[in-house]
Amino acid sequence: MGVLLAPGPVPVLKEISEAQCKEMITHRSGDFTKLYGDLVTRMKAYFGAEEAYVITGSGALGLETLILNLCGKEDRVLCLPNGEFGDHQATTVKVYANAIVQRLEDGKGWNLERAKPHIDASGAKVLAMVYNETSMGVRNDIKEICKYAKSKGMLTIIDGISAWPGTEFNMQSYHVDAFVTGSQKGIAAPPGMALIGLGKEAAERYAKRTDIPSYYCDLRRHKKRYEQDQQTPNTPAITLFWALQKAFDVLDQKGGLPGAVKRHHEASAHVRKRLEGMGFQMTAEKGFESMTVTGFVCKDAGQAKSIKSRLGSEFGFKIVGARGKYKDTGLRIAHMGNFEMKDLDACLDAISKIVK
Ligand SMILES: Cc1ncc(COP(=O)(O)O)c(C=O)c1O
Repeated sequence: MGVLLAPGPVPVLKEISEAQCKEMITHRSGDFTKLYGDLVTRMKAYFGAEEAYVITGSGALGLETLILNLCGKEDRVLCLPNGEFGDHQATTVKVYANAIVQRLEDGKGWNLERAKPHIDASGAKVLAMVYNETSMGVRNDIKEICKYAKSKGMLTIIDGISAWPGTEFNMQSYHVDAFVTGSQKGIAAPPGMALIGLGKEAAERYAKRTDIPSYYCDLRRHKKRYEQDQQTPNTPAITLFWALQKAFDVLDQKGGLPGAVKRHHEASAHVRKRLEGMGFQMTAEKGFESMTVTGFVCKDAGQAKSIKSRLGSEFGFKIVGARGKYKDTGLRIAHMGNFEMKDLDACLDAISKIVK
């Protein structure tokens, strides 16, 4: 099938895949208690979270869970999109709360200077934004923005779905109250699980609410069942949970978060340097480049189409197009999860041959 270099799902190592092939257990058993207890303990430590849960469902369900538990209908929620996934986040917020949306052009990144006037003017109670805008390969400076939002008394909700664990992050030092990532991204497990983390303030907020507009995603149920016996309120995707546990083992073996950050930062710098060396412009504004996916702009739509299809048919690499402004002319190479540098280099060699 070749090498998958798309920004999620990413390739799953054999040992992670095979961890699913066990005799089934019930989620009302000591074995499941051990498994879920271990996952939650590791997520809390990795995220710097007060509480953590695995929601069976994709990343978007995890994000929606955070939003519906933390934002009431009347709450003003400032959303700062700069690409497709930020737009989706704003759409989700609109379902549950009073969204105030300030958008940056595709490819541009949010920093404090740009976000501050909107935070000041919004009168919002909550800030919701994306750490790594996958569609454009843009990394927003959430650390400084969240720090400022917290100084204004806001609650901060971050979609870190495609950022973690390849981008520096800790909920406490990044001033993040609620966080989500997806199993098919940097942790490199199969798709189907959303990993969420909550800080103290967020945990206190949902626990006090009496009008949470969901049953399945009501975090009070998740908390109650976890406190009772480290289990989930409904039947979880048990096989995927085994894979996730193995994926955490692999992450630990590869040096934990510092190891992941180093590998992803090096890959990002390397891929960008080689593409720039071939004369490509990046989709991301300088200084806001993603650590997990690099977008580049081809000279026209024809060139983008030809690179993408020849990479697949002649060289065995699957990459994907960019979105939005660069939908026709942009391409993206992911360096996310347990990728190999030699594969990235072979893909870049192939691109260089195609464009010659
Ligand atoms: C930043 C970001 N947010 C949200 C999503 C949606 O995640 P899922 O498809 O797992 O629901 C993605 C998926 O690519 C993403 O990259």
